Amino acid sequence: MTNVSTHEKCECIMCKNNTTTMSVEECLNAHHRLSLNELIHFIDLSLSKCDELRDQIDASYTSSCSNKYPRSLIISLLKLYSSFHPHDWHKYEYWNTTDTYTRNLIAHHPDRFTVMLVCWKGGSSPIHNHAGSDCLMTIVRGVVREIKYHTPNTEHNIEKLDIKQIMELHEGEVHLINDQIGLHKMETLNENTQAVTLHCYIPPYSDCFTFDSEDDKIKINITHTTYDTEYGKTT
Ligand SMILES: [Fe+2]
Repeated sequence: MTNVSTHEKCECIMCKNNTTTMSVEECLNAHHRLSLNELIHFIDLSLSKCDELRDQIDASYTSSCSNKYPRSLIISLLKLYSSFHPHDWHKYEYWNTTDTYTRNLIAHHPDRFTVMLVCWKGGSSPIHNHAGSDCLMTIVRGVVREIKYHTPNTEHNIEKLDIKQIMELHEGEVHLINDQIGLHKMETLNENTQAVTLHCYIPPYSDCFTFDSEDDKIKINITHTTYDTEYGKTT
C-alpha cells in the first residue's frame, strides 16, 4: 500500500496528550483531525480482517459485499476527515486541458480498497456500475450532482435506464453508491464550475460496466479502470 505523508495540526485531546497510537474508535471518539495519511491508515486498519471481500461478489452487477465489512466505520472516518475542511488532498489534485474530469490514484490495497481523487471541471462521467463494490465518497471541494438510475434486472437488451433520484452533494458530505442501490453518473452543476471528490472503493475493482444510449437501446461496455495520475505522478 502507498501512504501519503502530509499532516495537519490536530487539537484533539489525543494529540495534546501526545498519544501517537490510536485505534479507529479512539480516533473517532476524540474527534481527531485526520490527515489523509491517517484516513488511509484507518481505512486499512478497519478492513484488515476483510481480505476475502472479493470472494463475496461475482461478475454480475447486482451482487454486493456491503455487509461483509464495517461500512459505518469507514463512513464515519470519511465524515471526520472532510469535517475539518482538509487541504492535504491538494498533493493529488490534477487538471489538464482535455478532460472534463481526471482520476487520480492515491492509495491501493489489492484485497481491500482503492482511494482516488476525482477533479471535475464540467461535463459528466458516463453512467456506470461499481462491479459489486461499494463506492464511498466525500466531497472535498464544491458541489456535484448525482443522477442515479435503477439497476436493470438483466444485463442484455436493455432498452432504457430509469432515473431513480437526482441529488446534489455538497462539500463535507459523505455518499454511498453500490449496484444494489443503483447505477449513477456524476457531474458538476454547470460546465464552468469545479469540484473535487475523494472516493474509496471497497473492495477495489479493475473493470466496470458503462452504459451508452444508442439507437433507442442501451449499449453496455466493459470499461477498464485507468488513472490520469498515480501516487501524485502523471501516468
Ligand atoms: Fe461511480
